Amino acid sequence: MNAEPTTLVDSYERAFPYLRLSITDVCNFRCEYCLPNGYSCDSKPKFLTLDEIRRLVTAFAGLGVWKIRLTGGEPSVRKDFPEIINLVSQIPGIENMAFTTNGYRLLANAQKWYDEGMRNLNVSIDSLNREMFHKITDHDRLDDVLAGVEKALTIGYEAVKINVVLLRGLNDDALDSFLDYVKQRPVTVRFIELMQTGDNLEYFKKRHLSADILREQLLQKGWVENIHVNGAGPAVNFTHPDYQGSIGLIAPYSKDFCLGCNRLRITSTGDLRLCLFGEIGIPLRDLLQRDDQIQELQTRVLKQLNYKKSSHFLDQGLTGLLPNLSSTGG
Ligand code: 5AD
Ligand code: SF4
Repeated sequence: MNAEPTTLVDSYERAFPYLRLSITDVCNFRCEYCLPNGYSCDSKPKFLTLDEIRRLVTAFAGLGVWKIRLTGGEPSVRKDFPEIINLVSQIPGIENMAFTTNGYRLLANAQKWYDEGMRNLNVSIDSLNREMFHKITDHDRLDDVLAGVEKALTIGYEAVKINVVLLRGLNDDALDSFLDYVKQRPVTVRFIELMQTGDNLEYFKKRHLSADILREQLLQKGWVENIHVNGAGPAVNFTHPDYQGSIGLIAPYSKDFCLGCNRLRITSTGDLRLCLFGEIGIPLRDLLQRDDQIQELQTRVLKQLNYKKSSHFLDQGLTGLLPNLSSTGG
């Protein structure tokens, strides 16, 4: 871990050593809560180029960012994904690089991505039941995705996490199956409360469920809530001596969730988002065109950070600009 303090600190004294960079908003899955009708492209999207990504990450690393997550959409749909991994891994100051994937290319590519410098991954698996997985994602790919996770573990990825979006009536009975799964595997399974986005209001009303019920079940089964480390992000983690893996709960509707916020986001076309649900997207792309613009870029980012709000105000039904999570990365 980097000892250098980040200069990215907002007016609520939160520090931001962690950047989530969406490299495409294209996704080939159709998760019910995100892209139920699949990805549709209105105009020709122009995603950040390799040079733009290099300048962007270099500028943020200069401000003290040491952790980068590549997200989408599905980041691996980009043909130059291996080059992006390689490039980011070599930027001075970046000590931890992760990516989030739906896993459909993991089995075939886990080794290549590792060889390029990737060490940490989050795979979205909303159910360990094949039919339910198929229903939620519209893809009958559970076995493939699980084989990809096994492969990543064998290769030696350092942190392997599974994201499960908690859905009332679909996977709210899935805790035991995931507990079995982590018994012998050093994997963290993180249950994420469904978030309301601009596109999913009806779905949200039907399927949202508080993660509190899982918390109670975990405590009953002897799982212990770890003390929350400052700056560790908004997940609450649970461990159990008989299990190799661990369980996390991400409850964006819980009180004080935003106090632990440690991340900023960049959209695939180079807008800075201060919050996943923030109403402002701040274009940075005009300052990603030449290497000598880096300082100007850093100044713009620092200035905008003053506008970061204390909370997402989701409980008031505000969703900001966000139509779905594929547009900004989760
Ligand atoms: N609420 C909660 N999680 C979501 N994800 C996508 N859309 C939502 C939503 N509306 C999850 C994905 C993925 C992660 C990046 O975010 O399943 O695991
Ligand atoms: Fe794709 Fe992820 Fe959205 Fe599912 S949640 S449709 S995998 S971007």
